Amino acid sequence: MFNRRKFLQSSFLSSMGLAFAKKDMGTEYVYPNVLNNPVVISTWDAGLEANKAAWEVLNKGGRALDAVEKGVMVTESSLNCCVGLGANPDRDGYVTLDACIMDDRFNCGGVAFLERIKHPISVARRVMEKTPHVLLVGIGAQQFAVAEGFPLEEQKLSESAEKAYQDWLKKSEYKPVINVENTKAQAFAPHKLPNGEWNHDTIGMVAMDASGNLSGSCTTSGMGFKMRGRVGDSPIIGAGLYVDNEVGAATSTGQGEDVIRICGTHTVVEFLRQGFSPEQACKKAVERIYKAKGESARSIQVGFLALNKKGEIGAFCLQKGFTYAVKNNKEEKLYSAKSWF
Ligand code: GLY
Repeated sequence: MFNRRKFLQSSFLSSMGLAFAKKDMGTEYVYPNVLNNPVVISTWDAGLEANKAAWEVLNKGGRALDAVEKGVMVTESSLNCCVGLGANPDRDGYVTLDACIMDDRFNCGGVAFLERIKHPISVARRVMEKTPHVLLVGIGAQQFAVAEGFPLEEQKLSESAEKAYQDWLKKSEYKPVINVENTKAQAFAPHKLPNGEWNHDTIGMVAMDASGNLSGSCTTSGMGFKMRGRVGDSPIIGAGLYVDNEVGAATSTGQGEDVIRICGTHTVVEFLRQGFSPEQACKKAVERIYKAKGESARSIQVGFLALNKKGEIGAFCLQKGFTYAVKNNKEEKLYSAKSWF
C-alpha cells in the first residue's frame, strides 16, 4: 500500500516544500500521504457501520472516492434510519432523498428531491461522472437514474415511517408555516429522541486514502414531514459537503437551512486554509450560525465534521449530542463533538 518509491517521492516533495505535484496537464494530482494514515470519518452513530465499508476500500489502497460512496450506501440501505428509502416522508407521505459526492479534483455531483431510488449517492456519482452538470433534481434525477440502470423501487413507507407519519398526521395542519422546521416538524423528527437528545438524520462522510487524496459524500432524506419539494444542505456542494484536496474536507448535519445560509462546509474548509485546526474550523462555522441567529439557534442543531491534509480530524456542533465515527489504522471509535451551548 505504501511502498519505498512512494515514500522517497513523498520525502523529496516534502524537502522541496511542495504539498503536491501536478502530474499531467492538471487532470491528475499526486498528494503523497507521507504519514500513511488513511482515515474515514462520518456523522452520527450510524457512521460506525458505514466506516467499516469505507475502510474495506481504504485498507486495500483504494480511492477515497470509492470509499465514501461504499460507506454511505450502508446507511442508505438501513430501514430504520433517516437516510434512504426507510426514512420518514414529507408532509404528503413521500420519501424524497438528497445526496452529493465530491472527489479530489473538484469534480462533484448531486441529486435532490429524488424518489424511489435506493442509492441516491450512486446516482450523484453518475451525475458527476456522466453528465456535464452538478445537480439533478426531482423527476429529471429519477429519469436519469432509471436510464443508468438503477431500479425504481416500490413507493411504500417502511413500517416505522408509516407509524411516525400517521402520528404526525393526527396533529398536523397542512399549510406552509415559515420556520416550521424549527418548531413543529422538529418535535416529530426522528433524530430528536424522547429524552430530548439528538439522533442522526444525515450521514456525511469524508476520507483520505493511502495516496493522500480526499473525497466526501453526504446523503439524507432531509427533515421529517418537510414541505413537499424542500431541499436541505446535503446535496448542495459547499453546504452539506466540500472537498479541496489542497486543504481539507468537511461535511455537515442538522438543520440544512442554516447550513446553507453560511455555505457551511465551504466556510469550514476556508478556515482550514487559514490554518485553523479541524475542530477550530468547525467551531468558527458554528459561531457564524450563532451570530446569524442569536439565541434562536438554541432551537436547532447543526454539526460540522472536518478532516485536513495531515489526517487530523475535528468536529463542533450547536447542541450537545452530535456524535461522529472515526476509523483509521489505530482506532474505530465514536466521539461526541464539543458544542456551542
Ligand atoms: N441536513 C439535512 C437536511 O437539512 O436536509
